[in-house]
Amino acid sequence: MTANLSRKAYDERLRTLSEGSVNVNFNPFTDIRWDDPEFAVDTSDPRWVLTSADALGAHPWYQEQPLETRIRIGIWRWAVIAKVGMQFENLLMRGALDYVYHLGNQDEEFRYLTHEITEETHHTQMFQELVNRTGVDTAGGKRWFRQLSRILPLFGSLYPEAFFTGILAGEEPIDHLQKGALRSGEPVHPLPQRIMQIHIAEEARHISFAHEFLRLRVPHFGKVRRGALSVLFPLIMRVLCDVIMIPDKKSAALAGIPDRVIKDVFWKSEAGRKMLRELFSDVRMLAEEIGLMNRVSRPLWRALRIDGRPARFRGEPAPLTE
Ligand SMILES: [Fe+2]
Ligand SMILES: [Fe+2]
Repeated sequence: MTANLSRKAYDERLRTLSEGSVNVNFNPFTDIRWDDPEFAVDTSDPRWVLTSADALGAHPWYQEQPLETRIRIGIWRWAVIAKVGMQFENLLMRGALDYVYHLGNQDEEFRYLTHEITEETHHTQMFQELVNRTGVDTAGGKRWFRQLSRILPLFGSLYPEAFFTGILAGEEPIDHLQKGALRSGEPVHPLPQRIMQIHIAEEARHISFAHEFLRLRVPHFGKVRRGALSVLFPLIMRVLCDVIMIPDKKSAALAGIPDRVIKDVFWKSEAGRKMLRELFSDVRMLAEEIGLMNRVSRPLWRALRIDGRPARFRGEPAPLTE
């Protein structure tokens, strides 16, 4: 069963989201107290220790390290994720700009997406500022991703449904990781904590939009076009999730994390496999709803190890046991 969303209902949702952008928005340099001593990046501050919501933080090797090492790796992990997040958002902005360039007059997507681009500009500023404050000199995503980033924004207008699938593939894992850290109840340094609060608040709109964008279009696609997207969808999710979540081998080695630990965390260990599945419970719900689960795509989700129970509603916390 696929739910049909009318263009009128879609436009109304976009107007609500646009108004949300006007009413609730943040400025990275006035809403974060970068220079407050409480927010300083201090390498002896145990609040940088990764929470167990991050599969790396949950790994026994990490937990056995001396406090000093756990703090150092914690700061490094935040910096790398912030840098890759920044790169994703930069890519999103370029693709979205390309997409809105071609929109006709009176199109609600123009206003909404330019709000989103404004917000992402701010996110890239706050993420880069976090990287700078940590002093970690990270290149961010893997080399192939950084090189391909020149071409990927073209898909904003060439293949919008694949592009917005890619956006979701970037936004969902980061959102999930952030919510997990905040919900863990474990101490989190106030700087990433504030950044996450701001990001989760604004990102909720972006994720809503990507869902609505696909819900409006995909159910009306013909068999071939929908079939192609049904196969591409889990592939895009998994590949881009790996780009965000898995630190580059060289970078991890420099941070002193053995390769076997990285392999175990992403995604060989039980905690890793569970995390990989949970990251996608919201998009599984979307894929079911818009008719992207079929005889060919379902086994692919399984082969990519991102299958499992779809969320019952967006942002549903993961069950303690599965
Ligand atoms: Fe963002
Ligand atoms: Fe976003």
